[in-house]
Amino acid sequence: MKKILHIVATPRGEDSRTLKVSQAFLRAFTGKNPDCKIDELNVATENLPGLSLKMISGKYVLLGGKELDDKLKEAWKPIERHIERFLSAEGYLISAPMWNFGIPYSLKHYIDLIIQPKYLFRYTDKGVEGLAKNKKMIVITSRGGDYSPGSPFNNYDFQEPYLRAVFGFVGISDIVFINAQPMDALGQEVQDKKIEEAKVLAKKAAESF
Ligand SMILES: Cc1cc2nc3c(=O)[nH]c(=O)nc-3n(C[C@H](O)[C@H](O)[C@H](O)COP(=O)(O)O)c2cc1C
Repeated sequence: MKKILHIVATPRGEDSRTLKVSQAFLRAFTGKNPDCKIDELNVATENLPGLSLKMISGKYVLLGGKELDDKLKEAWKPIERHIERFLSAEGYLISAPMWNFGIPYSLKHYIDLIIQPKYLFRYTDKGVEGLAKNKKMIVITSRGGDYSPGSPFNNYDFQEPYLRAVFGFVGISDIVFINAQPMDALGQEVQDKKIEEAKVLAKKAAESF
């Protein structure tokens, strides 16, 4: 693998529990793959372009199977730059806390920017075809509560199913999740223990990524 895009969706930097686990993954991965470039994009702190009416009009032009005219092409430049950066990676690490049972809005903003017809998916006679082929993804999350299978709040986890659906739609179905939880509900001792457990899983995942 030549390049991993690390999409960070927490603004909390050094205080981030999610990033503690992600760093364990990256240390293990880069130790084994020293030539792999890690491109970090922090969607929480980067000023992502807003989706203007022109940009959205362009999306409908592409959905109609037509090409963008010069004006729309100009408006689409920021989208194209982000798509190019996304597609130039062979692997993805997403570091995202759970926010209100789903993903932070900055990550949703990024997803709304890059998931575009003609670039990441297309409609064919046989249905939708994802165009981000042969890519791998690892998603590292942390949550204040516990949403693991069998727990009473499992049904409230809209984060993992959503990310599996949206990236599956564009062709990325090889996705590993590591969820550090609970981070807030049961105090510091449990938090430390769960971060350590998640780090062990992250290091293991790095071996086969
Ligand atoms: C805006 C916001 C919304 C949150 N919503 C949830 C939630 O719905 N469920 C939950 O378990 N924790 C929630 N949390 C807690 C975070 O998921 C938890 O503290 C996580 O470990 C933070 O990750 P970070 O340290 O990497 O930023 C929320 C935190 C914030 C700031």
